[in-house]
Amino acid sequence: MTLHTAQGIRFYDHEPATEDFLGAVLAGLRRRPRSIPPKFFYDAEGSRLFDRICETPEYYPTRTEMQIMRRHAADIARHLGDECLLVEPGSGSSEKVRLLLEALRPHAYLPMDISRDHLLAAAKRLADEYPWLEIHAACVDFTHPLALPYHPDGVRAVAFFPGSSIGNFEPGDAVRFLGNIRRMVGEGGGLLIGVDLKKDPVLLESAYNDAAGVTAAFNLNLLHRINRELEADFDAGAFRHEARYDADRGRVEMHLVSECAQAVTVAGERFDFAPGESIHTENSYKYRVEEFQALAEQAGFRPEAVWTDAAGLFSVHYLAA
Ligand code: AVJ
Repeated sequence: MTLHTAQGIRFYDHEPATEDFLGAVLAGLRRRPRSIPPKFFYDAEGSRLFDRICETPEYYPTRTEMQIMRRHAADIARHLGDECLLVEPGSGSSEKVRLLLEALRPHAYLPMDISRDHLLAAAKRLADEYPWLEIHAACVDFTHPLALPYHPDGVRAVAFFPGSSIGNFEPGDAVRFLGNIRRMVGEGGGLLIGVDLKKDPVLLESAYNDAAGVTAAFNLNLLHRINRELEADFDAGAFRHEARYDADRGRVEMHLVSECAQAVTVAGERFDFAPGESIHTENSYKYRVEEFQALAEQAGFRPEAVWTDAAGLFSVHYLAA
């Protein structure tokens, strides 16, 4: 369904049905070890909590990436080229794209997000602030292969995938996802992508265990969301947030750990938790620059440029399709 908002935003509505969420939760709780995919963190409350994580002193990725983009905006814009069609899968609050818009002056901006209300609110704010910008917003689950809802002939499409969201994928899935992006932008297109770097595990673990407990609230919101949207009775107070770096696998894992023996019912099905049993909710893979470039090459991209901060915390890559 396509509709036009008052601000002249073209809106493509393909919000995934609730059954996707229910099916994923039931399948995830039945399997061992139990796990639920991280894309379900981002209901309205989860999206709001994620924005607050980005403001904690411990969570360095967001501010570091923004600093890299601010510093290199002109150079980045030069690589992306004039009048491109800028596509952002998982656009969330559309904050980071602001760092590019003035330098880039794209032909149009296409934010895509699974969270419908968050997407629309962000697109409206952007339309108010950048009256010259043409916006096509699409509510979709970008983990499925995508076709561009709008792609005029002769316009070069460039995807923007900041925040190291690529870290949520298993490396093999990351290659498949990057391949989908490459097909989506097409020949001659590109991808500007932010990737968190391997570093001291102490820094990594504190980024996912902030002192104010925002990351814990973000993780636990998944249980609240299940209670809100599905017929479920999780006692979120009987689960604790856990995040640890697995150096062998190069990833931060997040878990919700049952503090006691307990039973939970979801849509009429009973799940028994042993004390200490966990639901694995997220992997966040970290890559060295060369490791990520090798992954991108497997997906058919050619690494063209990479920018990092002085401390080597984070990287921003431009890849040519
Ligand atoms: C948005 C997936 C990049 O993995 O760092 C932040 C999400 N999880 N704190 C990440 C997240 C816990 C974030 N990504």
